[in-house]
Formats: sequence, C-alpha cells, structure tokens
Amino acid sequence: MATILVTGGAGYIGSHTLIEILENTHHEVISVDNFSNSSAKAYDRVAGICPRPFKRVDVDLCHRHEMAAALDACGKIDAIIHFAAFKSVPDSMKDPVRYYDNNLGSLQNILYYAAQKGIRHFIFSSSCSVYGNAAALPVTEATPMLAAESAYGHTKQVGEEIIRFFSKAHTSFQAVLLRYFNPVGAHKSGLHGEMPVTRPNNLVPIITQTAVGKNALMVFGNDYPTRDGSCVRDYIHVTDIADAHIQAVEYLLAGKSKQPVELYNLGTGNGVSVLEAIHSFEKMAGMKLPYTMGPRRDGDVIAVYADNTKARKELGWNPRFSLDDMMLSAWRWQQELERTGQSVSFL
Ligand code: UD1
Repeated sequence: MATILVTGGAGYIGSHTLIEILENTHHEVISVDNFSNSSAKAYDRVAGICPRPFKRVDVDLCHRHEMAAALDACGKIDAIIHFAAFKSVPDSMKDPVRYYDNNLGSLQNILYYAAQKGIRHFIFSSSCSVYGNAAALPVTEATPMLAAESAYGHTKQVGEEIIRFFSKAHTSFQAVLLRYFNPVGAHKSGLHGEMPVTRPNNLVPIITQTAVGKNALMVFGNDYPTRDGSCVRDYIHVTDIADAHIQAVEYLLAGKSKQPVELYNLGTGNGVSVLEAIHSFEKMAGMKLPYTMGPRRDGDVIAVYADNTKARKELGWNPRFSLDDMMLSAWRWQQELERTGQSVSFL
C-alpha cells in the first residue's frame, strides 16, 4: 500500500480519479486543492460514492512555503499525481500570464517539494494540445510537438520539458506524462460529474446545459478541412482517464519504467467532429439540440486523435466507454444537477 498525493483532487478529472483509487485500490490518498476552479462539494460527492476516507489539504500550490508546511503535516508520500492546473483554451488566449503563473508555478513548487522529500514517482496531466496542428493523424507519442496553438497547450509543452530537465538532475525520479485527448462524461452513478464554477468553455457541459435551456451552444467553425467542416477531437470517458492514472501509479511503484520519463497518449483513437458529438448526444438524450454555427475559436487545432497502442501495451490500459456512453453519463449528471437544484444558467 502506498500514499498518493493527488493535486487538483476537487477538479473534474482529479475527483473522478479519487473515486477510482478509493474504490479499486488500497492506496491512501491525500488530495490538495484551492478550489480556484472547483468546489469542496466535489469531495462530498466523492465521499457519497465511496466512503473510504482520504486526507484533504486546502492550499494553493503556487504558495511554495504554505504548501510545503501543509503537506509536511500529512506524513510520507510515495507518489504524486499532478492534475492541478487551469485548462481553458480560450481563457488562456485572453490571459496567458495567468496560465503560465498557475500551471507552471504549481508544477515547479510540487517538483521542488518532491526533490526535498525524495518523492520519486510522478504523474503529470499533459494534453494532446502539445502536438499543435499535427501533420499526420492519428498522433503517436513519437509525433513531434509543433508550435502550440494556445497558451494552455504551451504550458503543457513547457511543463513536460521542466519534468524532463528535473529528471536529469534527480536521477532516481521517475515520471509518467499522460497526454489526455478530450476527457468528457460523468461517473456511472449519475451522482458526480463536471461542475465548472464559472461559465464552461468545453463542448460537453455546454451541450448538456443547452439541452436544459441554460446555455446556448454555438459550433465554432464549419469551414475546417474536415468531413463536415467542424473540428475533430478524440473524446474519452473521464473514468477511462482516471483508470489510466491507477495503471500508471502501479507501473511506477512496481519499478516497470524503462525511461526516467515515459509518455502515453490517452484517447480512444476515434476522431469525432463537433457535429457528430452533438448527434450522439441527441441520440442518447432523445431530443433535438438547438445550436448555431459561428466563427472559428482562437487557439483551436483543426483535428487531433490518438494512437493509443503504447498505453494499451505498456500500462495495460483498456478504455471501455463509447461516445454514446460518454454523452449519456454527462446527460444523467446534468439531470441530477437539475433535480437537486444545483444547475446554474449561463444565458
Ligand atoms: C483542449 C485540449 C484537451 C484538453 C482540453 C481542456 C486540444 C486539441 N485539446 O480541448 O486535451 O483536455 O482543452 O479544456 O487542444 N466547441 C464548440 N462550441 C463550444 C465549445 C467547444 O464548437 O461552445 C468545439 C471546439 O471548437 C472544439 C471542440 O468543441 O473543436 C472541443 O472543445 P473543448 O471541449 O473546449 O476542448 P478542446 O479545446 O478541444
């Protein structure tokens, strides 16, 4: 049994990962969050789904000394899963410095702490946005990183590089970089899902909010060189993403890494256009969704989807959920928000 520090544990992917670790492993969990884009209510929902306790530290990782003092009180840590970061492509284009400060500041501080405490195992939330507008699809881990289209994507490129240099200086350190494609969907119970505290920018929460009349979906661009003119992404169920973190932790703890820094794509391998995603939702929810066509969004890549062979082979990862499953679970979560009066209107 190990103790795993999860940063950003109240966030969307972090909280789904807490559930999977608590339910499916014996590891102890310490979750750190400052609720800058999440809410402590996520912890209540995690506890409602899985009663096994976890430690909670409410601190901003950008405050190095405060963070270190708070973590020191938690005892020995064996592995870190570092989720905590801002993740909006359009917000990062409006305020890049905020993204560099938060995403890179928190990463540097948590690495500093890992070095001080000799914590050797590290998992980093990276993103397929590091590939930029890749020339050939699907992208493999060997596909070269092109210039990032967004400041968000650039923070992930730089974050990966920081970890590479860190691992050269600390030779016992072993990291796994997980490049997520587009995580969507909600927990199978229907009792937990994405809960943005401000107006969401991601497609699926906007789809489900539009379905209940609390947002207005616009498709950003219908003149891309794709099969229907809208952007193509690789949507992947958040629980499949969460599972990959458990497999990556076990891989590191078992000493299976061949390189100091290993890299994996986490996507299904299916390229899906925005319009196809909307149609999947319409099928699963049994309704027509109102939407308008609008201009391209700044920072968007045209198309990206994964070759996930490496994660399947080396981590034993096996994504289980289809696009329809993703949409149905997101819809059930939106309905739960409606039922419990927690849903907010962004109109
Ligand atoms: C990006 C990253 C992804 C990361 C995510 C975090 C890429 C390729 N992917 O996802 O790895 O996890 O940020 O936020 O950079 N759209 C609309 N209307 C809307 C909202 C979105 O048409 O109202 C379209 C977008 O233009 C895009 C697709 O839906 O084509 C998905 O957008 P979104 O959910 O915001 O994710 P990405 O920016 O692709």
